[in-house]
Amino acid sequence: MPIHTSPKSWVIETKNTGYAVGLNEAGLLTHRYWRARLPFAADYPAPVNPLERSSFDMPQHYTPEEYPGYSALRYFDPALKITFADGTRDLVLRYVDFSTSASPYPELALHLKDEVYPLRVTLHYRVHEEYDLIARWVTLENLGDEPVLIERAFSAKWTLPHGDDYFFSHMFGRHNNEYNMKREVLTPGLKTIESRRLTTSHHHTPWFAIDRNATEDSGEVWFGTFAWSGNWKITAEVTEFASTRISVGLNDWDFAWKLNPAETFVTPESISGYVKDGFGAASRLMHDYVRNILLPHKNQLHKVLYNSWEATLFDVDEISQSKLAEVAAGMGIELFVMDDGWFHNRNLDNAGLGDWFPDKAKFPNGLGGLIKNVNALGMDFGLWVEPEMVNPDSDLYRAHPDWVIHFPSRARTEARRQLILNLGRTDVQEYIISVLTTILSENNIQFIKWDMNRNVSEPGWRDAPGDARELWVRYVQGLYHVWGTLRERFPNVIWQSCSGGGGRADFGILHFADQIWISDNTEATARLSIQEGFSQFLPANTMEAWVTDWGRNVVPLEFRFHVSMCGSLGVGGNLNEWDQADRELAAHCIRLYKEIRPIIQFGDQYRLISPQKSMFSAVLYVSKDQSEAVLFVFRVYLSDPTNLPMIHLRGLNPTALYEVDGYSGPRSGASWMEAGLRVELKNLQSKILKIKQVE
Ligand code: DGJ
Repeated sequence: MPIHTSPKSWVIETKNTGYAVGLNEAGLLTHRYWRARLPFAADYPAPVNPLERSSFDMPQHYTPEEYPGYSALRYFDPALKITFADGTRDLVLRYVDFSTSASPYPELALHLKDEVYPLRVTLHYRVHEEYDLIARWVTLENLGDEPVLIERAFSAKWTLPHGDDYFFSHMFGRHNNEYNMKREVLTPGLKTIESRRLTTSHHHTPWFAIDRNATEDSGEVWFGTFAWSGNWKITAEVTEFASTRISVGLNDWDFAWKLNPAETFVTPESISGYVKDGFGAASRLMHDYVRNILLPHKNQLHKVLYNSWEATLFDVDEISQSKLAEVAAGMGIELFVMDDGWFHNRNLDNAGLGDWFPDKAKFPNGLGGLIKNVNALGMDFGLWVEPEMVNPDSDLYRAHPDWVIHFPSRARTEARRQLILNLGRTDVQEYIISVLTTILSENNIQFIKWDMNRNVSEPGWRDAPGDARELWVRYVQGLYHVWGTLRERFPNVIWQSCSGGGGRADFGILHFADQIWISDNTEATARLSIQEGFSQFLPANTMEAWVTDWGRNVVPLEFRFHVSMCGSLGVGGNLNEWDQADRELAAHCIRLYKEIRPIIQFGDQYRLISPQKSMFSAVLYVSKDQSEAVLFVFRVYLSDPTNLPMIHLRGLNPTALYEVDGYSGPRSGASWMEAGLRVELKNLQSKILKIKQVE
């Protein structure tokens, strides 16, 4: 058991890290250590006992408490804020006892209680030893007979080793431009990234990394993510006493939750880890965790898919889709996905959402005919849906205008001419479950792309069961319930999470979806940096990447293929316009991808030269047994003459001999890594080099 306990002290150990908390002399649950694992449990430092500095700086304020409530003389950002029924807005948490369990993963639970009020707070820690990750979440139980109002309930506060000399990395973006990395100095005060949009959002990503002069390959990095697909908040705080802490949890902005007697509120998980060897190592731990622990279909290779959206937009029917399918099959595509436009009255984005049955004019005999054709070509069939949405011009909206999120006194602001169904409501959940169950049970569908194309407005909920501000959480719980029920009913279906591209990419949704559509921007050179950002926390097999016609007059098809082959390859161009040479090149790339995809989808990823920082970039995937690797190199635009940098491989066995495509003679792994290799490319050229260990 990697958890050492004693009456006042707890140490959690993973393969390489140690994490310690304990009670200090004042009885406060105090953070002690989070860094490299130490040889003995007794090695971990004792809890600190700060002294009074002045009446303005009392010990409570600068004790690194593990989970501080808003109370007494504490002025830093608290993890929990409660209002009791009598109006008291002060929480005095006292340690009560602890428990541990071993299955399926080792867990520690530290139980706290308010000194006076019947509120129990349990801090949970799940240990993923192999991945050097700890998942933390919190349970709040109302043991009294009056309601309690929760105004903030973060999942964790992570305390860094004492100091104020850290860098904070995070990702920001917008629709069509997701996952831009930013690394900045943390200075005293608060730095917050968040979503207030009801979904995870394109605008910030629930991921952080803290370092002290780390690089991709070296240096200490503390990192983490939040497993939630709704409003979230990550705050880095540096106090005036040089203490640096990261809070992770549900966004408390416009949030409140009425916790009735005998009820329990459970927060989502905040998952974090520590590495000694740079950002790349942090990403690889998360990749392994996602692939081995999180995904519904754990080590299952993803098929090469074709998606018709960019080719046909809403203009789909049995004949034209079957024609595309024939071309796709000829190129070696394994899964044909029909996107938007197939359902009742859906000819543009102004109508149809909500009415999830095939449009009679486009599919007079239902979807069966098209699916039969696709299957006869040897491909699986997949379908696009956007179940959380409704167009005002739909039968569903005409029947249930009250089902959308709105305030009765306000106009319902449309975006893409659609409104959001309130998934917090059980009648809405039941409708979506039933209508999707019908589609999935009547048709041979192997893949569903679940889209969501707008953010919230007028977040009202008349007749809400508790506080109307519970909407933010109840919506996501409803979404998980609907998706979870469908997953149980149709366990073989592969689901993809999409929200106008990367608006819903997080560890929460990956309990249900195996893949993510990471951006509507499919222009290959832009995609290089979007893909790199995504790789900070999610592995290549979850990253669906289509080859499309964006930039076709400038960017060669081979380059576009190579970019998409860095993830789960798909094709999304208008195949009717691809000439014979294009189709042959596509068939060649797809054949090659099928050969190397186990390394890309399941291997270790090394970001060698960053496309976010350089027009010449390289990324490497190494098989887990280190016997094979695939190197991708891209040159976008550099004015000549230029000196292209050496590429230093990573992750090889230093003493084994490897051959690299196109380079004469085997060299040791150490040589390819230390001496490196040079790959000459012209502007808008790319290369894939296969690397193999020789016997
Ligand atoms: C947004 C998605 O990101 C696109 O791929 C496509 O599915 C459209 N929605 C369809 O409306």
